[in-house]
Amino acid sequence: MTIVKTIEEVRAQVRAWRAQGLTVGLVPTMGYLHEGHQSLIARSVAENDRTVVSDFVNPIQFGPTEDLATYPRDIARDAALCEATGADLIFHPEADEMYAPDFCTYVDMDRLTGGLCGKTRPTHFRGVCTVVSKLFHIVQPDRAYFGQKDAQQLAVIRRMVRDLNMPLEIIGCPIVREADGLAKSSRNTYLNEAERQAALCLSRGLAKGKAAVEAGETDAAKVRAVIAGEIEAEPLSRIDYVELVDWNTLEPVDSTEGSILAAVAVYIGKTRLIDNFIIER
Ligand code: PAJ
Repeated sequence: MTIVKTIEEVRAQVRAWRAQGLTVGLVPTMGYLHEGHQSLIARSVAENDRTVVSDFVNPIQFGPTEDLATYPRDIARDAALCEATGADLIFHPEADEMYAPDFCTYVDMDRLTGGLCGKTRPTHFRGVCTVVSKLFHIVQPDRAYFGQKDAQQLAVIRRMVRDLNMPLEIIGCPIVREADGLAKSSRNTYLNEAERQAALCLSRGLAKGKAAVEAGETDAAKVRAVIAGEIEAEPLSRIDYVELVDWNTLEPVDSTEGSILAAVAVYIGKTRLIDNFIIER
């Protein structure tokens, strides 16, 4: 496995693979890899001849008051995890390799990005769509792998690929959790011991909400109340949003009878965590 920092090195390597008729999978990440990322890499390794992992904390998807400067980084550990999982290449560029000083072209979306995380992070998905488009152009993979953990991001990327006719397949992968239910996240490292315990209110609330739907509750407001009630009972929590939306349009729903996404964003102390469940039918 090799680590490269320039776009030209990635292109040369992928050209060589293509000349041998090999297929290529891409796993875009911001690094500080855990078992959630690892499940995406393993899936790509299983489904493609070669796997590229991008490891880049993308500055343009962070708002001015967000955690860009403190976002955890450990490329040596990431490289060990990628190698152990069977990845072939890590693309680990500096910001100036990806963004020229006069960079001014973005990929933006009218729908899907205004609600949920887009409400408090108005420029976030523009940053995600732009960097992911760049990565698709740089690597030109057959398939790219995204986690359901960031469900809105997965829906947005799928829509972008459809709308702009990007020639690759998007593979959505299930949420990987800690043994006690907390969804794995690079940001979990911000939590102290009390907050780590408190953070369980997200997965607990969602499990209760999902159980209510599975028991036949069709009123979305009631399911929302079940989820929010469990989270609000935790003193260290502050809800950003608890929402039930249509899984295809991300528009709010009144009924849980179609394909739905139940998504939450909750501050535990200063750390903002997200989690969700999807029911597809
Ligand atoms: P990052 O937060 O590093 O996540 C990279 C990928 O790992 C995303 O597709 C995310 O959904 C997935 N992932 C994270 N935690 C997971 C978990 N517990 N279970 C399953 N998958 C999980 O998402 C980003 O980076 C960036 O926005 C990026 C797409 C790389 C663009 O900069």
